[in-house]
Amino acid sequence: MKDEKPDGPLYYADYLQLDRLLSSQRMESALHGRPAHDEMLFIIVHQAYELWFKQILWELDAVLAAFRAPSIPEDALGQAILRLDRIVEIQRLLIQQVDVLETMTPLDFLDFRDYLFPASGFQSVQFRLLENKLGMRRGDRLQLQDAAYTSRFRETDVARAEASEREPSLFDLVEGWLARTPFLHFGDFDFWREYRHAVETMLAADRGAIRTNPTLTEDEKKKQLAGVEATAARFADLFAPETSEAEAGPGRHFSRRALQAALLINLYRDEPILHAPFRLLAILADVERNFTTWRQRHAQMAMRMIGTRIGTGGSSGAEYLERAAERHRVFTDLSALASFYIPRSALPKLPPDVRSRMGFRFEAP
Ligand code: HEM
Repeated sequence: MKDEKPDGPLYYADYLQLDRLLSSQRMESALHGRPAHDEMLFIIVHQAYELWFKQILWELDAVLAAFRAPSIPEDALGQAILRLDRIVEIQRLLIQQVDVLETMTPLDFLDFRDYLFPASGFQSVQFRLLENKLGMRRGDRLQLQDAAYTSRFRETDVARAEASEREPSLFDLVEGWLARTPFLHFGDFDFWREYRHAVETMLAADRGAIRTNPTLTEDEKKKQLAGVEATAARFADLFAPETSEAEAGPGRHFSRRALQAALLINLYRDEPILHAPFRLLAILADVERNFTTWRQRHAQMAMRMIGTRIGTGGSSGAEYLERAAERHRVFTDLSALASFYIPRSALPKLPPDVRSRMGFRFEAP
């Protein structure tokens, strides 16, 4: 149904529908005849979260639409970066908002907590849409009492959550975009072969420097060499053929080709054409980090408020939330990339034709 446009000049309260917004705080404690002062804060903080979730979804949908195109022009990439930047700023607010709710003491919370059963933030559909649109898969989730996360939803909400699982997620789209990066092979230049050679040279130099260091005792040399071998083992995994999901460990992982592209973008980020892709990957890692920080902060708050009690939604409470913060991650590969950086001085030099294609050139008329 289309909203009626009121007659006369636009009025602030009508524009923002303040009547509806400001009459949407219904305290369960008051309905039970025992109004608890802090329930107003509890409701408003949750509503503010849901409004911000709505804004994040609005931005995320626009980013997803841009990435669905078979190729992404520079201006669309720039726009997507700005929108993701906005999401990061909103997330900072969301993390800070926990402080506001924590001005409520656990005893004040107990004044109305029992009225909330069995409702819980676990039923926040917008939060699940966000997770799904970012790329969380059903199979990667912790289960609550052996049931799907949708089991606590109303039917209409189940349909919304399931529809979001069927769409390509940001993870899928970014992975596809990375895999299409043209710079991995360019004429005779094979990035992966050159990078591997540079890594082997760097590791050999590290071993040599330790062995010939006159200030180290034999024992110290042994320890430091073991450190280099541990690094070498991590690189060996990277250079091994594509691993299966089970071998790659929990959570989502990029295909080998997408991972190579992400590494190339980070290592050669000084090349003008890679500035925007580098920013994009950095912001995605920020989005992921902020999500995890919020989850950890929320788990601490739950521990502070309810201790080791179960949650109103029936989970083990803070313990469940801590495990979810650990496990519910999507862009893990991006944060792990730093282990594979090598110093600029050791980076293979790009052939001149590749460099010139990567640069922005201004040609005077
Ligand atoms: C007194 C403050 C709060 C406490 C004690 C608390 C506690 C909990 C607990 C124990 C759970 C696990 C599910 C359950 O058994 O209910 C949960 C889930 C959740 N809560 Fe809160 N919560 C609080 C405030 C908030 C706020 C302000 C939000 C903002 C929207 C929120 C959003 C969520 C979400 C999205 C989940 C699902 C998390 C997941 O499954 O990974 N909670 N909460």
